[in-house]
Amino acid sequence: MTKRRQFLKMAGAGGAAMFAGTPVPSLSGQRTEGKAAAYAAKDYAKLIGMSGFSETLLKNHFTLYQGYVTNTNKVLDALAQYLKDGKTAAPEFAELRRRLGWEFNGTRLHELYFDNLGGKSAIDKEGKLAKKLAEDFGSYEAWEKDFKAAGAMRGIGWVALYQDSANGRLINFWINEHDAGHPAGCRPILIMDDFEHAYMLDYGLKKADYIEAFFKAVDWQAAETRLK
Ligand SMILES: [Fe+2]
Repeated sequence: MTKRRQFLKMAGAGGAAMFAGTPVPSLSGQRTEGKAAAYAAKDYAKLIGMSGFSETLLKNHFTLYQGYVTNTNKVLDALAQYLKDGKTAAPEFAELRRRLGWEFNGTRLHELYFDNLGGKSAIDKEGKLAKKLAEDFGSYEAWEKDFKAAGAMRGIGWVALYQDSANGRLINFWINEHDAGHPAGCRPILIMDDFEHAYMLDYGLKKADYIEAFFKAVDWQAAETRLK
């Protein structure tokens, strides 16, 4: 069973049996009086019309992203309630605590992804990012080949170009689902969504075509801004 299904089961009526005997704080989105939600979804409507991505696919993707924001807030609220109620030894608290990484990263990775899309020009080979990629991978082309190869792997997750904050080096990572495989303390530079929902509606099983469309739509300036 996927983590998402586990959570839906836990959050919904079907989850009651899982936690028999232990009241579970409401995940309905109700908040403590007057307290603002920790996170608000950003508006990425400006990406609609972007070459290589249909409006329907993008709108579905925005809705999915908004779900992560909502659930991040719900999990934070539920955890706060467990703390308030003195029930942090409950296994449900531990499961929600683990869950937070999945929902939070589902939120943040989508923001990084949408924020590094919408570009209209190729990477400036004389720019800071291209030069650093060439330095760390031997050539810009070698980096691109490695990044695309990670994207072509079977499975769902993310491809991420990270900068190691300890030594400044650029490294490509595969992130399983949203929360497994992030290098601690590194800076995300370029993020590519590699879940089926990011491309199937427009490209079917042709993930390589989506990856090409992604590269044509990258906002390289946005990525370069993240580089230290
Ligand atoms: Fe996504």
